[in-house]
Amino acid sequence: MSLQSLSVREAVVGRRSIKKFNGQPVEREDIMQIIEYAVWAPNHQNREPWRMVVACGEELKELHQLLRNTVIPKWQDLTQEDLDKKMQKFTTPGAYIFVIVPEDVRQNIRLEDFAAASSMIQNLQLLAWDLGIGSCWKTPDFLDAPVFRKSIGAKPGERIIAMLQLGYFDELPKGKERKKPDELVTFFSLNGEE
Ligand SMILES: Cc1cc2nc3c(=O)[nH]c(=O)nc-3n(C[C@H](O)[C@H](O)[C@H](O)COP(=O)(O)O)c2cc1C
Repeated sequence: MSLQSLSVREAVVGRRSIKKFNGQPVEREDIMQIIEYAVWAPNHQNREPWRMVVACGEELKELHQLLRNTVIPKWQDLTQEDLDKKMQKFTTPGAYIFVIVPEDVRQNIRLEDFAAASSMIQNLQLLAWDLGIGSCWKTPDFLDAPVFRKSIGAKPGERIIAMLQLGYFDELPKGKERKKPDELVTFFSLNGEE
């Protein structure tokens, strides 16, 4: 981790989803360290309801191949040049983390596990940001496609809830203004009366 860490507030407010990466590789040790810290997310009964499939370095080539050949059938008719262009949003990230959660048959457990894994994913994003690594949590349809699930090794009863693309970037996108607390908050009163 960097010597001079961001404050929690700086990281939370300053982090942006990065959708345009510059192609610089992300080191495996950085990814592993980010994961080591991110799993300190709250999770009910310490179930730690997550596992990850990581692609960085050499593994990226095979992942690109998988994306190109199997999960983008609507692009199959494009010329090679157009396909390469379309593929840039998949080929420029320096690393990927796919986050997989168990899908319990009990709805309350399933919701808790999804919530806990979501906290962990935000930790991943903030810790990456602290290292100057941008990320974007993506949920493309193909995460649920049988061919993709099989290739990633998702088992029955598991769900791939995030494709986290990570990498370095040259431009910081401007965040969309958030609603202010006044617009979001009502103060408690019995029966919900103002
Ligand atoms: C559950 C979830 C799914 C998302 N899926 C996508 C996605 O499929 N594609 C995408 O471009 N961004 C995706 N995003 C990123 C959002 O677009 C982004 O967080 C939002 O625009 C706010 O921008 P910020 O993260 O920079 O504040 C997703 C974010 C979340 C939390």
